[in-house]
Amino acid sequence: MILTTGATGRIGAEAVRLLAGGGLATRALVRDPTRAPQDGSWSGAEIASGDFERPDTLDAAMAGVDTLLLISPSVPAQEIAAIDSAVRQGVKHVVKITNHRATEDSPVDRRRDHARIEAHLRASGLSHTLLAPNLFMQNLLVVAPVVRQTHGFVMSTGDGRFGMVDSRDVAAAAAAVAAAPGDHEGRAYLLTGPELVSYDDVADALTRAVGHEVEYRRVTPAEHREGMIAAGVPEPVASSNAQVFGLIAEGDAAWLSDDVAALTGRRARGLGTFAADHADVFR
Ligand SMILES: NC(=O)c1ccc[n+]([C@@H]2O[C@H](COP(=O)([O-])OP(=O)(O)OC[C@H]3O[C@@H](n4cnc5c(N)ncnc54)[C@H](OP(=O)(O)O)[C@@H]3O)[C@@H](O)[C@H]2O)c1
Repeated sequence: MILTTGATGRIGAEAVRLLAGGGLATRALVRDPTRAPQDGSWSGAEIASGDFERPDTLDAAMAGVDTLLLISPSVPAQEIAAIDSAVRQGVKHVVKITNHRATEDSPVDRRRDHARIEAHLRASGLSHTLLAPNLFMQNLLVVAPVVRQTHGFVMSTGDGRFGMVDSRDVAAAAAAVAAAPGDHEGRAYLLTGPELVSYDDVADALTRAVGHEVEYRRVTPAEHREGMIAAGVPEPVASSNAQVFGLIAEGDAAWLSDDVAALTGRRARGLGTFAADHADVFR
């Protein structure tokens, strides 16, 4: 049995679809069962109601589970609670979504958080695999309303390039590992798209997909932070995002890997495919 947490999220929903579609015994942990897809895409999957904040619900969901696909908003206490529950319930392998630059002394809080969770996972003695994706193409969906209204978007990464990955490929890689965890014990994989791109390339891809010009409007990270706060983003999140955008401008996410193809047997989706598949959202 494979249990996927964060199952209503970007990676999780697709991973559950792929695992259930592949005929594997699959369970999805959801906070609110009414948020599970109603379109039949999870046909064959069990639904377990649970919350990282309620360890009793984690224990119930993990009963009989062999492999945990651990996806969350990466709050350390929550993932640590899930790892502890996995130990209690005799789970054999954990597949964790993490960050490529997760170190204890990272200047970025969310990377330190992932490093803390990784350390707990190592100390648990559980067999595990780490999957570190580059920036998700699906993050672009957040700016879709602005693109629709203004034919452009604001970003503060300058000419910085990144190995942007489609979260559907992150899900496919995660499902492949969860389906055969013994082949991936103790391994860490970097999940990226097929090419390094900048937000100029993003604007070009959206322009081609929607059929009119989409503009990349450059601001500094400090200006971007102010803009996010003005738009209602909580200050700590805006500050952390702006910090990461500044790092990306300096080349922090300019890394590529063939691991998506190696794990899934398919070339990772490019930006053009993402833009074409989501054109209606941006038009
Ligand atoms: N975005 C990127 O560019 C990027 C890049 C690299 C790595 N990552 C990593 O990817 C991971 C996030 O994956 P994602 O984008 O697929 O997630 P997501 O779309 O943000 O979804 C988060 C999921 O966590 C669930 N959740 C939140 N609080 C919960 C709780 N208390 N109990 C149970 N479930 C809870 C949510 O359920 P509800 O539907 O109930 O809210 C949702 O299913 C993070 O570890 C992040 O660091 C992201």
